[in-house]
Amino acid sequence: MASMIEVKDLTKIFGQRGAACRALHEVSFEIDMGAFVAVMGPSGSGKTTLLNIISSIDKPTKGRVIIGGREISTLKEKELALFRRDMIGFVFQEFNLLDNMTIRDNIALPLTLNNKKTEEILRKVRELTVLFGIDDQLDKYPYQLSGGQKQRAAVCRALVNDPKILFADEPTGALDSKAASELLACFQNITNKYATTVVMVTHDASAASYCDRVLFLKDGMISSKLETNGNAKEFFKKILNMIALLGGERNERL
Ligand SMILES: Nc1ncnc2c1ncn2[C@@H]1O[C@H](COP(=O)(O)OP(=O)(O)O)[C@@H](O)[C@H]1O
Ligand SMILES: [Mg+2]
Repeated sequence: MASMIEVKDLTKIFGQRGAACRALHEVSFEIDMGAFVAVMGPSGSGKTTLLNIISSIDKPTKGRVIIGGREISTLKEKELALFRRDMIGFVFQEFNLLDNMTIRDNIALPLTLNNKKTEEILRKVRELTVLFGIDDQLDKYPYQLSGGQKQRAAVCRALVNDPKILFADEPTGALDSKAASELLACFQNITNKYATTVVMVTHDASAASYCDRVLFLKDGMISSKLETNGNAKEFFKKILNMIALLGGERNERL
């Protein structure tokens, strides 16, 4: 399978001299197109820094990021803006929906900004919201939805441009376990249906057990990797064992 993301010897140092903080140290890995990958590790281990650099929000101190065969450090300002718009979707722990817009308008917003035709926009919103089970919520406002529904709406908005990669930083952090598992099943769906590559930071072993692979970060380095054999329960146990082995936070949800 083709690599969607290649990260080579990535190092990130914040600050200078005496105040310098090494957030990432020579991190290398590859992620296949259509893979669902979790990044785990204790607080401060470099997860958000890694996500920000892969997604071109931040620049590495050293090393390379190659997305879909293109090295992103070689892109000019304009190319980078297009790259972000066309290749990448983002979801965060907070849902970041606009309170005074309906769910439909929230999801359609990126397409509206791209000057797409109305029918095309409505068709895309319909397709995604059916897939995410919120097609009956489109006329409502965010405050009328549950947390899980709001997060699924935020994911639909992130996917409305057909990005190749969806980055999610603790997307289940504010959800109960039922809403979390619904969201994670949706992530699995989109990797199958659209071959979207999903990279998700999580503290939650149960959330990570929905993934194909888990990368464990510690002190800015990859300390371990695990791959599923397709059995989520077994994978969950393996992940818990690895967390125990590596030390640091153990914040599972059972
Ligand atoms: N903008 C920044 N300036 C200085 N230090 C930072 C900055 N962002 C992150 N760090 C430091 O880099 C390390 C990794 O942070 P982060 O990537 O946020 O970890 P995580 O997401 O795993 O909790 C931490 O020690 C953090 O304090
Ligand atoms: Mg973080």
